[in-house]
Amino acid sequence: MRNLLVAGNWKMNGSGAANSALVEAVVAGRPAASSVELLVCPPFPYLAAVAAALKGSGITLGAQTVSEYDKGAYTGEVSAAMLRDIGCDAVIVGHSERRALYGETSEAVAAKFAAALAAGLLPILCVGETLTDREAGNTEAVVDEQLDAVLNTAGADGIRQAVIAYEPVWAIGTGKTASPEQAQEVHRHIRSRIAGYDAGVAAAVQILYGGSVKGDNAEGLFSMPDIDGGLIGGASLKADDFLAIAEAATRVRGS
Ligand code: 13P
Repeated sequence: MRNLLVAGNWKMNGSGAANSALVEAVVAGRPAASSVELLVCPPFPYLAAVAAALKGSGITLGAQTVSEYDKGAYTGEVSAAMLRDIGCDAVIVGHSERRALYGETSEAVAAKFAAALAAGLLPILCVGETLTDREAGNTEAVVDEQLDAVLNTAGADGIRQAVIAYEPVWAIGTGKTASPEQAQEVHRHIRSRIAGYDAGVAAAVQILYGGSVKGDNAEGLFSMPDIDGGLIGGASLKADDFLAIAEAATRVRGS
């Protein structure tokens, strides 16, 4: 049985004081269940402080993006080794906001995925379709293209050391959640696509759902057979909201 993972993507929010208070409250209220894992992804400037606050808590620290390059003249970029150096164990790659707003192609995402793996970071690979894609019946084709870019470079062995997050773009920050059945359908597809490369990896990899997950819809989503937790945006910014989602995960997969 796969553990459930509840991951918070804080995006570009908060301040030193607010983020310290947030992480302290999350640490204090974290569920005891060993089958429910927590992870938080603060903005770059707060990573080191959050790393210190998380020490001994069992909560994983992640960044929100990473450079595909090792070092050099890449103004404004942060390397995977630097993230490791300040205490990160994970990093989100290919979030739809990075793809849409900063022009990250699937090839660039695959290169970031490889850079993360090479540095010993857990990549959280985001995939997902827009509303236009979905309405045109292209959901699976879009997700396949995003997934294959990584599978064809890092292989199933790369996915073995990663987490996938299915985040339909139309559900992000909109309050419109995919129904558990809609999400499950795509999660099952993703798992079967990976199984085409390696059945063992497909069975083991955690596939998170992201897009307007809240305390009151998390349990339905996390109860689906191929949904292994959530990547949470807005509801990860308030400790009570985030912990309510962690509690929902505990009800589904407690102990
Ligand atoms: P919301 O939970 O705010 O919809 O954001 C989801 C997301 O983009 C997480 O990466």
